[in-house]
Amino acid sequence: MRFDRLWRNARLATLVPQRPGIGMVEPGAVGVTGGRIAFAGAEADLPARADAGEVFDLDGRLLTPGLIDCHTHLVFAGERSGEFELRLAGADYQSIAQAGGGILSTVRATRAATDEELEASAGERLRVLMAEGVTTIEIKSGYGLDLATELRMLRVARALGRRYPLEVTTTLLAAHAVPPDCDRASYLELVIRRLIPQATGAGLADAVDGYCEHIAFSADEIRRVFAAARSAGLPVKLHADQLSDSGGAALAAEFHALSADHLEWTNDEGVAALARSPTVAVLLPGAFYSLRERQQPRVAALRRCGVRMAVATDCNPGTSPLLSILTALNLAAVQFGLTVEECLAAVTREAAHALGRAREIGTLEAGKRADFAIWDVERAAELVYWIGRNPLHKRIWRGD
Ligand code: NIG
Ligand code: FE
Repeated sequence: MRFDRLWRNARLATLVPQRPGIGMVEPGAVGVTGGRIAFAGAEADLPARADAGEVFDLDGRLLTPGLIDCHTHLVFAGERSGEFELRLAGADYQSIAQAGGGILSTVRATRAATDEELEASAGERLRVLMAEGVTTIEIKSGYGLDLATELRMLRVARALGRRYPLEVTTTLLAAHAVPPDCDRASYLELVIRRLIPQATGAGLADAVDGYCEHIAFSADEIRRVFAAARSAGLPVKLHADQLSDSGGAALAAEFHALSADHLEWTNDEGVAALARSPTVAVLLPGAFYSLRERQQPRVAALRRCGVRMAVATDCNPGTSPLLSILTALNLAAVQFGLTVEECLAAVTREAAHALGRAREIGTLEAGKRADFAIWDVERAAELVYWIGRNPLHKRIWRGD
């Protein structure tokens, strides 16, 4: 058997569901051909005359699937440290938002920025995430809130996917807030009748998201947006129950959403609804931390009911200015009580499910894309344990 490239003498965290925990195989090897994994398993199981164009000895290093950041708002202009200072002085996120700050201040900056500026600032953030082994990232719109700028944000996200060696999936989050220059009924009409069809027609969106919250859109409004997404053939995701129990998790489950994200205020019925659907629970500990939230997502109930749990940075200028997926794992473990094994699955296998990409990425298995990360750590737990150390040895995307 001949591979393009072969990595040997590794400790593999395969994350395959058939194996316990994180699916460790050691010593293990990964053979890649044509950008896909052709072999991932024990050295002892390598075909007798395995051979490759290039062979790398990993000297016992840990090799995991490439990390997947499945919820970000990476494309935006400006920053909101002034708002951060207001919150430190006692103001709360919701009153800042209601006074025209918050999301709307980023909307003003984003509308005023050129495509080049948006691509450059997001590209800088992307490089920081890639340096920690991220090989796939989801990027949402939602700071345009008009036809032209929402489409522009998605185009910039697509351009990033062409410019950088990683996979970018895009999500239309036009239902993020009511824009300042439009009444809510007309804006919803615009989203439903023009934005979703145009984004779909131009191939700019892989999914549709909404913000179901009293400072954003009601469950009934989101239901109409989701119905439009369904007609356009796009899967949905939802910012659900972040600041209040808005029935978001149940709504996401009703539409078989790819994911329901945040979930701090989701009640037991919401958890039960998620358990009956394929929807992944995406936990966003950076927003919980930055907003100094107290209400914890019901991780024990999610675990007990067998709901898949992913973790993401939620990188955005307001609630989660977080550019480290490894720090997100530490926060998820310390604040929410995820185990190390749950954390590692949360940014690989489960994050792939949250993007509808589980057939292609998220585990080390023959046939999947050859996206992986090689780490200088003694134990896999170190990826969750350190705060501010980046032990990445090498990032491989599509075998390269
Ligand atoms: O995921 N919750 C809504 N959206 C973002 C925050 C956006 C902002 O404040 O700019 C979030 O937390
Ligand atoms: Fe978000």
